[in-house]
Amino acid sequence: MKYLLFLVLFSSFLYSSDSKYEMGKKIYVQTCLFCHGVNGKADTDMKFIVKPRDLSKTILNEEQSYQVIKHGAHYWGASADIMPSFKSVYNEKELASVSYYVSKTFNPDVEKKIQKLYAQSDDIPNDKISKMLKRGKKIYKRNCSWCHGLDAKGDGEATRNPEMSIFPYDLSKTLLSDKQMFLYIRDGGKAWGTDKTDMPGWSRKYDDFTIKSVVKYIRKNFRKKDDIK
Ligand code: HEC
Ligand code: HEC
Repeated sequence: MKYLLFLVLFSSFLYSSDSKYEMGKKIYVQTCLFCHGVNGKADTDMKFIVKPRDLSKTILNEEQSYQVIKHGAHYWGASADIMPSFKSVYNEKELASVSYYVSKTFNPDVEKKIQKLYAQSDDIPNDKISKMLKRGKKIYKRNCSWCHGLDAKGDGEATRNPEMSIFPYDLSKTLLSDKQMFLYIRDGGKAWGTDKTDMPGWSRKYDDFTIKSVVKYIRKNFRKKDDIK
């Protein structure tokens, strides 16, 4: 039995040609696993004010995951500071390897999924832009500012209510692309890996035109850069 185990371990070592993957795996097991769990599903007993993300459902691609791992989630708009920055812990090669590992292992098809879901949404003709900005503003103020704040800094009234523990993102720092924002707002946080339903999905209430209008409004006013796709 012992001999068999040795053989299995040894052969997996021999045939692991992908050293980047192996390096990433090692770092994941040492550093990330106790929060994000063996399968990336964050199904551990750790108690935090914001639960670690289910990495099998994240909307982020490999490059974006790298950015979150490097700088921490707070840098990209999270109001809590539980997902730390690892830039003083690991070098570039190590950071790249662990991003590669989590993306390839837990959510390899996320980009395809995003393209597919987005392609199924309604196309909006270009001449609708000014109408969109007006509509986006109205809907943002009515539905989003209570949590995200009028300037989208993540400090709306709901965050000042001591009876609620709500941690909305500062949308002026989001690294989501327009397509990702649309899907995140449409489906809500839970569909994309958070544990709570604090960030609701809006597809029952609003059509694609309205949700895309809110994205336009956010992009025009709060997060002008769409530098990281
Ligand atoms: C102390 C617990 C903890 C540790 C350790 C930790 N994370 Fe996280 N991670 C979190 C939390 C909590 C979030 C959600 C951030 C938020 O919304 O405030 C998160 C978010 C992320 C995200 C963003 C996912 C998304 O959809 O936005 C990635 C990627 C990630 N973690 C990868 C890692 C990797 C890789 C490591 C190890 C190098 C790691 N994490 C270590 C708690 C942790
Ligand atoms: C009840 C509070 C609440 C309301 C209302 C709300 N949000 Fe959120 N939102 C959150 C929380 C909390 C998060 C953090 C992640 C999560 O839980 O999904 C979030 C996350 C997000 C994100 C993801 C940002 C990122 O970088 O990952 C976007 C985009 C967003 N909200 C847009 C909106 C828009 C647009 C509206 C209005 C249509 C809205 N939210 C309404 C609480 C809220």
